[in-house]
Amino acid sequence: MPNTPSTPLDPLQKTYLRFDQLDFSTDQAFANVASELSALAERELRDVDNSEELERYRIKWLGRKDSVVSRITDNWLKPAPAELKKHIGAALNMLRFNLDQDLGNRKLDIQQLDLDPELDLSLPGIERAIGTRHLIRQTYDELLRIFTAIGFSVVAGPEIETPYYNFEALNIPEHHPARDNMDTFYIAGARGGHLLRTHTSPMQIRTMEKQKPPVRIVVPGKVYRRDNPDATHGYMFHQIEGLAVDTDITFCDFKGTVDYFAREFLGPKTKTRLRPSYFPFTEPSAEVDATCHVCGGSGCRVCKQSGWIELFGAGMVNPAVYGFVGYDPEKYSGFAFGMGVDRLAMMKYGVTEVPLLFQNDVRFLKQFP
Ligand code: DAH
Repeated sequence: MPNTPSTPLDPLQKTYLRFDQLDFSTDQAFANVASELSALAERELRDVDNSEELERYRIKWLGRKDSVVSRITDNWLKPAPAELKKHIGAALNMLRFNLDQDLGNRKLDIQQLDLDPELDLSLPGIERAIGTRHLIRQTYDELLRIFTAIGFSVVAGPEIETPYYNFEALNIPEHHPARDNMDTFYIAGARGGHLLRTHTSPMQIRTMEKQKPPVRIVVPGKVYRRDNPDATHGYMFHQIEGLAVDTDITFCDFKGTVDYFAREFLGPKTKTRLRPSYFPFTEPSAEVDATCHVCGGSGCRVCKQSGWIELFGAGMVNPAVYGFVGYDPEKYSGFAFGMGVDRLAMMKYGVTEVPLLFQNDVRFLKQFP
């Protein structure tokens, strides 16, 4: 690059020349070029507004090879005699310091631009309300805790079932009157079609088909019935099924488990009673009642003055069911139960209307933090 007095070099061009080709007549001269370069760099940086451009800028000014700084080092600093090195070095340091600083600041600006071009850090932050678990979820968690604590494991199954699992294998043959109160949503199709399960009991069959005793499972899940919606009914509700089968399970194990559950769920003073009932898949069958958690059994509005609250249906597994899953009814025995989670939640927390559980009105949900 020519160095003629008629064409004054701009500061960038000077970095391509050796120190002794430049007119560095005074010690101050290096510092002057360095400040010119700083000013130039600063101007250039103002047009840099994304990270790709910033990287190009960095390489041009501060890169290891063929940058402004590297050329000054190679062309001026290294070949200079000792007495000049100190001035060149000082000027170079000053330039590098300015470049580093400006580059760092610009980098922060760009990061913020990337995040949100409208971001105003002086505005107060937005406080976001932290949600809570829905009452149904809370009740599920509590019920599952109670049963897993005594060795039950949790399994889940399909909401779309075959009539075989939902009815037949549970000892509810076609035309059996027990199907009447479990009318549901049928899906037409091959092999007898499918239906939305009316209870979680089909998972008793699916589990026993797959594994030999001992079986101890609880099955949480949604179930569906063609009920007309009112204060205590919807077309869908939540259940937990329970099943325990082994070689030596007696009615006492059943009653003991029921008592344990009622005390855990409603408090240590709770007592239970069993009323005879009927389910095709249990024999004998029972409705489990607990002493009222509000009045303790003396009678109040909640228990309709009876002192008792109905909890769930249960019983000893009907040996006929073992026939469907290949268990030897002479060898094995067990108990089962089926709880309505929505019912239990409403009872325990004093909710009177099913729709409240599903409208997701925050004023309602907030009452169960
Ligand atoms: N499946 C029954 C229903 O939805 C509830 C039930 C009762 C389940 C007794 C059981 C049981 O496992 O033993 O009405």
